[in-house]
Order: sequence, then structure tokens, then C-alpha cells
Amino acid sequence: MKEKIRWGIVGLGNIAQKFADDLKLVADGELIAVASRDIEKARHFKALNNAKYAFGSYMELFSCEDVDVVYIATPHTSHAELSIQAMTQGRNVLCEKPMGINSGEVEKMITAARENKVFLMEALWSRFNPSIRKVKDLLDDGIIGDIAYVHADFAFYALDRNENGRLLNPALAGGSLLDIGIYPIFLAYLILGYPEKIMATSKIYKTGVDIQTSMIFEYPNAQAILYSGLTSDSEMKAQISGSEGTVYLAPRWHETQEYSIEKNDEIEKVLLPKKGKGYEYEIEEVHHCLRKGELESKLWSLEHTIDLIRIMDDIREQTGVVFPFEK
Ligand SMILES: NC(=O)c1ccc[n+]([C@@H]2O[C@H](COP(=O)([O-])OP(=O)(O)OC[C@H]3O[C@@H](n4cnc5c(N)ncnc54)[C@H](OP(=O)(O)O)[C@@H]3O)[C@@H](O)[C@H]2O)c1
Repeated sequence: MKEKIRWGIVGLGNIAQKFADDLKLVADGELIAVASRDIEKARHFKALNNAKYAFGSYMELFSCEDVDVVYIATPHTSHAELSIQAMTQGRNVLCEKPMGINSGEVEKMITAARENKVFLMEALWSRFNPSIRKVKDLLDDGIIGDIAYVHADFAFYALDRNENGRLLNPALAGGSLLDIGIYPIFLAYLILGYPEKIMATSKIYKTGVDIQTSMIFEYPNAQAILYSGLTSDSEMKAQISGSEGTVYLAPRWHETQEYSIEKNDEIEKVLLPKKGKGYEYEIEEVHHCLRKGELESKLWSLEHTIDLIRIMDDIREQTGVVFPFEK
């Protein structure tokens, strides 16, 4: 591995620029190549971010030998196909969440990673957030005793968005569940593991995507109450309670810079400021794995990813959300 790990980005939309900004904060990484379906857009992005190559097709970037790892930043529906193309060309891959739109896709991606002996990780950036990492360690050490309750939500108003855009369009696997419901599900899974039983209900929009989904996860000694929605804001303060106290992740919890512990009538607030928007920590994790020659992250492994999508498959089965290309 070279001194600097060389990144390529495909799909130069909203998240791609935020990721590129945070990549600049990671000393041992650099953006070397970018690809768009539109070469002019790629040239502009390249100039803005001091990359070396601009490509007018994703495949050109996948076959560029100077790229160590590709960040897939396209809508959900193309994650599987593009990741597999990149891995088949020998590239390591960090793929935006959800890694695939159902467990069938994710299984194929994992097979491709293993066959090509390359690194693959879902860009579940919250797993690497300093506050969430710290809270997970504290909970594992029993800071609030036996955990009995998790509450987490993620919502914002999006019904004024373009119905052909990726949030409201079923052809792009739109809806709240896969886009933002994945975060509260992730938190319950991180803390309590795979649920014994899942109950879910969704409100379906005229386009056929879910715009509100409420979920209850049942565990032997705990329950999680989770919510995602595109119809309004929600508080986005996550709560984890146990026999000896409560931990709160401050809003917006999935990208938080603060947590608090309430125990014995005392409140301890802890601030953990991020360097950038928060993508720098998942980038650092990729670098850590690549430098050690590890093909998956221990903190957010492929088993974690497949569990998460199986949970979302189960929820969609209950709420009746089937995307047009799945019929
Ligand atoms: N981790 C996070 O915080 C976070 C935040 C937002 C989004 N995301 C994830 O990142 C992915 C992209 O989200 P985004 O908000 O960046 O989306 P976006 O702004 O719509 O950008 C997606 C880009 O993908 C490319 N693309 C390829 N096929 C496309 C198609 N059929 N329709 C539209 N665009 C297509 C386009 O790039 P070119 O025109 O350059 O080819 C487009 O600019 C999603 O899977 C989402 O879940 C993650």
C-alpha cells in the first residue's frame, strides 16, 4: 500500500461532495479519481477537489489501477451492480448505505468480495462516530446495568421533493425505511443484537414508497421502539435505558457530538466534537483495515450488514413495500 490511500468516487451528487470534504481531513488519504455519467460534471468535481483523473463513465474509474478504493455514492438501486463491477476489477469498495436494497443483493456483493479477495464495507458512518463508539463501549462495560429499552428515530419533511428523485421514487428504492430507517434499526441492532420478533407498520405514499414506518423490536429482556418518516421532523434524540440508568445521544443522534449519562440523580454530559461532518471516521476505518490487509471491518462487518438488510426485508414483508423491479 502506498503512503497515501488513493480514493475514487463514483456518482457525484450530494453525499459525494461531503465525503470529499471530509477525505481532505484524513492525512493518509487522497482523492485521485472521480467519475460521473456526465464528463463535464466529473471535470468540475475533479477541479474543485484537486483530483488527478475525471472519467465520464464509472467503469473507467473501476479499471483505473491507480485507485486503491472506490466509494460508491449513487442511489440505492445501483449499489450492488456497481460494487460488483468495481470488485471484479480488483478494487476495494466502500458502498453507501443501504449496501443493497434486499438481502439477495447483499449476498451477491459479499460473494463478489470474497471471490475477488477485496475489501468491502457498507458506509454506515454512524458506527464510527466518536460518541456512538464511546457509548457502545460504556454499555458493553455495563454502565447502565441491564439494557431494557432503546428508542431512536430519524425523520424530516420531504413530501415537497421531486417525485422522480431518489427519496420518493419506488424505481430508485425510495421511502423512509431504506434511506433513514436504517439508522434507528442500526442503533437497536448495535446495542441489543438481532431481534427475536419484529413488528412494523408503514404509511404508503401515492408513489408507492413508505413515508412513515414505526417499528417495535422484541428481545428476550428488552424492547426497542424505532421510527422513520418523511412527513415531518422528529426530535432525533436517542435513548438507551437500563436497570441502573439512561444514556442519551444528543440530536441529531446519528451524527452526534454529545452524549449524556443519567444515573443516581446525576447527569454527566460529554462533548466529543467531530473534525468534519463525520465521514472522516469511516474513512479512517477503511484505511486501518486496508493497511492491515483485512478484507472487512470488525466494527461494521459484512455479517452486520447482512443482518441489517434481513431486518429491513422482514419489515418490508410486513408493510407490503415491494419495489417495481422486485415484482
Ligand atoms: N451517509 C450519509 O450520511 C448519506 C447521506 C445522504 C445520502 N446517502 C446515501 O448516498 C447515496 C446517494 O445519495 P445522494 O443524496 O448523494 O444522492 P444524489 O444527490 O441524488 O446523487 C446520487 C448520484 O448518483 C449518480 N446516479 C447514478 N445513477 C443515477 C440515477 N439513476 N438517478 C440519479 N442519480 C444517479 C449521479 O451522479 P452522476 O450524475 O455524477 O453520475 C447522482 O448525482 C444513497 O444511497 C444514500 O442512501 C448517505
